Amino acid sequence: PAPVRDEPFRPQLSFSPQRNWMNDPNGLVYHDGEYHLFYQYNPNKDTWGDMSWGHAVSADLLHWTELPLALPVEKDAGGEITQMFFSGSAVVDHANTSGFGKPGNPAMVAMYTAVFPQARTLNGKPIRAGTQAQSLAYSLDRGRTWTQYAGNPVIPEPPGPYAAEYRDFRDPKVFWYEPEHKWVLATVAAQRHKALFYSSRDLIHWEWTGEFGPAGAAGGVWECPDLVELPVDGDPARRRWVLIVSINPGGPAGGSGMQYFVGDFDGKTFTRDRNVASDDARWLDYGADFYAGVTYNDAPGNRRLLVGWMNNWDYAGTVPTAPWRSAQSLPRELGLRTLDGQVKLVQQPLAQVQALRSGLLYSVPARAIAPGVQPVSLNGAANAPLEVRMRLQPGTAARSGIRLGTAGTSAYTEIGYDAAQRAVYVDRTHAGEARFHPQFAARHAAPAVLRDGELPLRVLVDRGSVTVFAGEGETVLTDQVFPPAGPAAVSLFGVDGDAAVRDLDVWSLNSIWKD
Ligand code: FRU
Repeated sequence: PAPVRDEPFRPQLSFSPQRNWMNDPNGLVYHDGEYHLFYQYNPNKDTWGDMSWGHAVSADLLHWTELPLALPVEKDAGGEITQMFFSGSAVVDHANTSGFGKPGNPAMVAMYTAVFPQARTLNGKPIRAGTQAQSLAYSLDRGRTWTQYAGNPVIPEPPGPYAAEYRDFRDPKVFWYEPEHKWVLATVAAQRHKALFYSSRDLIHWEWTGEFGPAGAAGGVWECPDLVELPVDGDPARRRWVLIVSINPGGPAGGSGMQYFVGDFDGKTFTRDRNVASDDARWLDYGADFYAGVTYNDAPGNRRLLVGWMNNWDYAGTVPTAPWRSAQSLPRELGLRTLDGQVKLVQQPLAQVQALRSGLLYSVPARAIAPGVQPVSLNGAANAPLEVRMRLQPGTAARSGIRLGTAGTSAYTEIGYDAAQRAVYVDRTHAGEARFHPQFAARHAAPAVLRDGELPLRVLVDRGSVTVFAGEGETVLTDQVFPPAGPAAVSLFGVDGDAAVRDLDVWSLNSIWKD
């Protein structure tokens, strides 16, 4: 039987590898009944290195099966790395534009950043030490085994103006651009804060068509771009494009973060809409632990599903988990909504997570929150994972909200609304283990708009993380937490005034590794 993933802090709602180090999600594609999750993986250690593509599959995006490595690091006889496999994407070449497919068996094609630490030649092409180039591999057996394309790399270096950036040219995201029946690729010149766009008829020959940036936050490197088209307010006639860019450091909670831009893509380049109130960054997540997020290709029902790496480069190598390090997030469904006069990205946790609900631990249509801390008596003892839903009415309170802790201990994570700051926040300063990094114990805040005096909150409490979806999903915070194990303890709190909650429900959820 498969070993149960049940160690302290082991995520019970989303994928983490049995052992060793993982970072970015890669190659997210749906094919033939399976959602594929490839990921940056070190097969040999629980810290970053020997970068390979790990692989897992799922029929429902909840329950995962870990498979053998898809693209293993390559080393020479002396043990020196000759090629690593950095982040990238995957498509299914249904029309066999690449010629890699067989009749009735379209190829799954992965485009990844090939990293060459040493100078060498590959397929007759000279490669300088440190090169990051874009290469292809394909699979004819549902992603189980892979063949590297004999003409790699297909984009050996960045376009002319950025030729000097050959060591920081990475993270190709390919997708099918239906209006022109062609493949489009977004990649980055990381240090220059540029997203670069390419087009191809066959996935092999690529033409550079445009660029975007710097814009918004440009403090750190730009990594892992993605470009998705979404209807606005559910109206298929009003569509905008969203460019997603990961930035490290310079995120809203310090270290790694993700920003997005709303605008247009004409098949060649992305242009940001100018009707935004300011040129400030728009953050996709305001917590400390959501990075390198990208969307699925070919998800059924045209759903736009985003998965991010739930960690932060500031401390990812020292988080207190063993024998693995890092989890991917639960997939989130993306949308665009007009809110407060602006078109904003909205996110909701994967709808199927409701199928994990096992028991209603507490439910109240309305409850006042007096100044102080008021425990909520749960019916039954339940460990995380949990789901909490409520509409918080901050009233006259300076701060109000909910504390999620472990019974019999003083550890809790506080999720609240701060009236003076007009912000929703996650405070993990009392949440549990934090000594592994000086900046870990912190409070992370995000702007929040009360509508009719209320702030809807939906919180997924996993072992090892909390994710808060606030408002209509326009504000999300993802934070790792490492609390003592044990049954959940929930309380409501208010400071300097009276608050209330409406429709507070606390559910216990089944583990994806057990049910
Ligand atoms: C982002 C990133 C990518 C790169 C990968 C290497 O976290 O730095 O830019 O491809 O990780 O593991």
